[in-house]
Amino acid sequence: MELRHLRYFVAVVEEQSFTKAAEKLLIAQPPLSRQIQNLEQELGALLFERGSRPLRPTVIGRFFYQQALKLLANADEIKLITQRAGMTERTIQIGYSTSILCGLLPRIVYLFRQQYPHLSVKLTELNGIEQIQALKEGRVDACFGRVRISDQSVKRVMLREEKLMVAVHSSHPFANQHRAISLTELNDEQIFSYPSQAGLGYASQVKSLFLEYGLEPKRFMVLDCLQQSLGMVAAGEGICIVPESVKMMQFRHVNYVPLADSAAVSPIYLIVRNDDESQYTRPLIDCVYQVYDLEAIEYDRRVF
Ligand code: BEZ
Repeated sequence: MELRHLRYFVAVVEEQSFTKAAEKLLIAQPPLSRQIQNLEQELGALLFERGSRPLRPTVIGRFFYQQALKLLANADEIKLITQRAGMTERTIQIGYSTSILCGLLPRIVYLFRQQYPHLSVKLTELNGIEQIQALKEGRVDACFGRVRISDQSVKRVMLREEKLMVAVHSSHPFANQHRAISLTELNDEQIFSYPSQAGLGYASQVKSLFLEYGLEPKRFMVLDCLQQSLGMVAAGEGICIVPESVKMMQFRHVNYVPLADSAAVSPIYLIVRNDDESQYTRPLIDCVYQVYDLEAIEYDRRVF
């Protein structure tokens, strides 16, 4: 009997069906049924009530299920402890785009450092294209960004989609209306966006969002960076569409107003080299998901 058999058995109990368990385990159903039969033969006991729908474990099967859960949890813990012990001290270099630092990144790094105290983390602010370049040149190990740049040397996992908001001056009529604003209402405004890198970047995501609703902003100006754009908002010169986490950035006279349109979201990606075999990528993603769970943030757990 191997751990694999226990994992198969647990999946069948939890899914109450061989078909669903096979789908979950990404194997075909006939070999799964065979493995369970072999297990029953080895144990000399029936683990499932024959013909039951949904599939039910027998009394012995329920006992075995509890023991299997304990053993699997133990095995996972041994693996984690050994992996941690085997990790040498080193610095993980992480690139990030500005708005990501305003949000959950500090919390994720804190959690990562708690769980892997022998690893230190160095953070470097990089825009979308710089992230790809830095990954290729080995200057960073992983990046958190918003821009979907296709490049053969990197791969990415979409972590979640974050809502967008509008930053407006406190004297702007939208500032005190206590309601969500729609993109249509912003079409005639002076809009500042960032960063000013050719064609790609977050600014083009914002522009495409207007196009998606058949709108074309009349006055759209791309500035160097987020801080500059918010500075212009604080000066009463226009508005800026930003990810929700940016509201942590307190500028005097800048108010953040929700956007009503459902497509007004911005993706957050983890990007690593295509040939990434780092033992830290998985733990880093796990820390992201742990923070999402703690913050009750909705996300789609993806396999890398
Ligand atoms: C987030 O806000 O979802 C996030 C921030 C930093 C790293 C990863 C995810």
